[in-house]
Amino acid sequence: MDENLRRKLRKVRDELLWLYQNSLGRPRVFALSSMERIGSVYRRPSDMCEPDKIMLYALVRGLRPERALEVGVRWGGSGRIIASAMEDNGTGKIVGLDPDTEPFRPRPSELHGRYQLVKGFSPQDVPTAAAALGGPIDFVLIDALHTHDAVFADFTAVLPFLAPGAHVLFHDTYHQGIDTAIREVMGANAGFVDCGILTRNPEIKLPVLYQGLRLLRYGDTEVDNKKLMREACERNGVKAPSFHPYYNNWDDWANGIGLGVKGDPPQDA
Ligand SMILES: C[S@@+](CC[C@H](N)C(=O)[O-])C[C@H]1O[C@@H](n2cnc3c(N)ncnc32)[C@H](O)[C@@H]1O
Repeated sequence: MDENLRRKLRKVRDELLWLYQNSLGRPRVFALSSMERIGSVYRRPSDMCEPDKIMLYALVRGLRPERALEVGVRWGGSGRIIASAMEDNGTGKIVGLDPDTEPFRPRPSELHGRYQLVKGFSPQDVPTAAAALGGPIDFVLIDALHTHDAVFADFTAVLPFLAPGAHVLFHDTYHQGIDTAIREVMGANAGFVDCGILTRNPEIKLPVLYQGLRLLRYGDTEVDNKKLMREACERNGVKAPSFHPYYNNWDDWANGIGLGVKGDPPQDA
């Protein structure tokens, strides 16, 4: 084929690919029926500010919880976000616990069969909510009554149900009473890692402040990266890597320009 024609065809192919990747193939952000469902973040009403909601979606999307519990549901804003991120992950179930289920807004189609609402009070009904998940909980959002005593009770109530490596997320952690309760429960129960306050947009409603997400990890403090990698390969139906030290300096791009790994792999790699 003529070289000129070949170049033109390549240009057309690249233009079509660009069009697909940047327009047609992009998620329709506000359609909750399409990947990615980050548009759930912008559904109202909700008690969380936008940065906190974006962080919540990203955490669930990234941490891939199987069983989540939210204590404090109201409009269902955070529940919709968690269920949407789980649907994007292709895995996970969430149970929400609240004594007042009337304000709950999400339509069933926005929850993707992943959300169950349990009417009841924390701490006394936490065991019922946990039982509905059918196994140890690996993600908890505590966002119910915003007092020291209530958060102390909520946090203490979920402890027996946490899976090793579970994440516990608190909302409105700029509230001084909530901050104190978190520190007290963590201090009295070994095995928590404080991942810190993840969002820096406090709402000032003196005499206290609101908003802010704080994340704790429970147990499993030594991160088993190899286990996570093996699980990811298994999920994708591919062979797990050997983790041989030969591959410590492996990088497709670096190898291509003579940096990175040198020589042939050893027999046992
Ligand atoms: C701040 S709202 C939850 C907002 C929700 N997480 C969101 O971001 O969309 C607080 C909710 O906690 C609920 N609540 C109050 N006391 C509770 C308790 N003891 N157990 C469970 N929920 C409670 C209230 O009924 C209210 O709906």
